[in-house]
Amino acid sequence: MANVVVVGAQWGDEGKGKIVDWLSLEADVVVRFQGGHNAGHTLVIGNQTYKLALLPSGIVRPGKLSVIGNGVVLDPHHLVDEIAKLAGQGIEVSPANLKIAENVTLILSLHRELDAHREQASTDAVKIGTTKRGIGPAYEDKVGRRAIRLMDLAELDTLDEKIARLLAHHEPLRRGLGLEPVTAQTIRDELTCVAPKVLPFMDTTWDLLETARRDGKRILFEGAQGALLDVDHGTYPFVTSSNTVAANAATGSGLGPKAIGYVLGIAKAYTTRVGGGPFPTELTDKTGELIGDRGHEFGTNTGRRRRCGWFDAVLVRQAVKTSGIDGIALTKLDILDGFEEIKVCVNYKLDGAFIDHLPASQAAQARIEPVYETIEGWEGTTAGARSWADLPAQAIKYVRRIEELIEAPVALLSTSPERLDTILVHNPFQDR
Ligand code: GDP
Ligand code: IMO
Ligand code: MG
Repeated sequence: MANVVVVGAQWGDEGKGKIVDWLSLEADVVVRFQGGHNAGHTLVIGNQTYKLALLPSGIVRPGKLSVIGNGVVLDPHHLVDEIAKLAGQGIEVSPANLKIAENVTLILSLHRELDAHREQASTDAVKIGTTKRGIGPAYEDKVGRRAIRLMDLAELDTLDEKIARLLAHHEPLRRGLGLEPVTAQTIRDELTCVAPKVLPFMDTTWDLLETARRDGKRILFEGAQGALLDVDHGTYPFVTSSNTVAANAATGSGLGPKAIGYVLGIAKAYTTRVGGGPFPTELTDKTGELIGDRGHEFGTNTGRRRRCGWFDAVLVRQAVKTSGIDGIALTKLDILDGFEEIKVCVNYKLDGAFIDHLPASQAAQARIEPVYETIEGWEGTTAGARSWADLPAQAIKYVRRIEELIEAPVALLSTSPERLDTILVHNPFQDR
């Protein structure tokens, strides 16, 4: 029985939350391993909609253990708010069903301020369009070896020293940027007031996960963002500040690479992106607008309208390779219902020559032109289909063509936001 990693194969918002929720029925533990509350995962279960940013999507199922791994950056105040919001929807989050890595890096108010300031100060051409939630600055402090981590809240006598080390970096930086000075007392207060609320969740999660693995429990790793937002493999610098590819599921949860098992990539039947950066198949015309309206393509966290375009097989094929994807869950096929023609990008042209991958150079990425194949649309509807037999023949052709182009099979198909409107082709947990 394999463990399963779910990762985005595009620029995020592929429907990871829905698929993780669906798969978590068969899992014992659901683990977030990177990113923070920049993620926005929407689950629709009957007449309830849950919007999660930081908590693993398994949290809504009773009896499942959720883990926030060491690779995440955690805003403790946001965590408390998200738990309270879920309580209002009847979901109980307690130390019995949520464990947080003791060595997780904390996001502080000065990270959010720095993130927002940099965004506001950037010109449109270089603006990344971050979620302004402090993700990038928190990861900077982590690799800069000056972060405050969850366990530090349990050692209050050493906190002042750690805050001083952090401020030795941030004070001159803030002065240079014209930001108000921040005092050690402010940071200390924001941490000490939240400590009693988050410390009960703290655990040695690498050990707990290894024990679960040895006991034959099924672990589902939940990725946030997508392969093209990966800090190494994405459209740098228009990326997030963590590794979003599947291999990071091991590092970000404290397990070895063999724990990963089956890699399930999630891709939409078209492409979207929020924020700045290159987007070869972007449609800035009525068709793009139509896809956005039909697909309700608005950021879960920021409410920003997502940029929309045709399916880009070059990008997803690259994600299949950089994440070692075994199979794909293709989502939002229903949004393409009723289109007479659908285009798929099969190749790029760069300075007159064909290329089969996204070049690493920022300047080259901005110059590439998509090469399209046109596929006939389908009459009838895929919306709400729950079996392969319910799909129009032409929709099946579209799916089959995508499989060929991305060099990976479709393991799951999603045909609406609702949990049960999902077609299982191959169960990832039963891969070996
Ligand atoms: P995530 O960040 O990858 O979890 O994706 P988001 O939740 O941010 O965005 C995906 C959106 O599409 C959510 O509003 C989902 O409810 C919705 N969704 C997921 N799968 C499908 C599908 O197959 N069809 C339709 N119409 N909507 C879907
Ligand atoms: P989920 O998990 C889509 C984008 C932001 C911005 C860039 C950097 O819901 O798929 P950051 O705040 O991370 O420093 O912003 O990354 N971004 C996402 N786009 N879905 C997400 O998460 C995203 N998380 C970050 O829009 O372009
Ligand atoms: Mg999202």
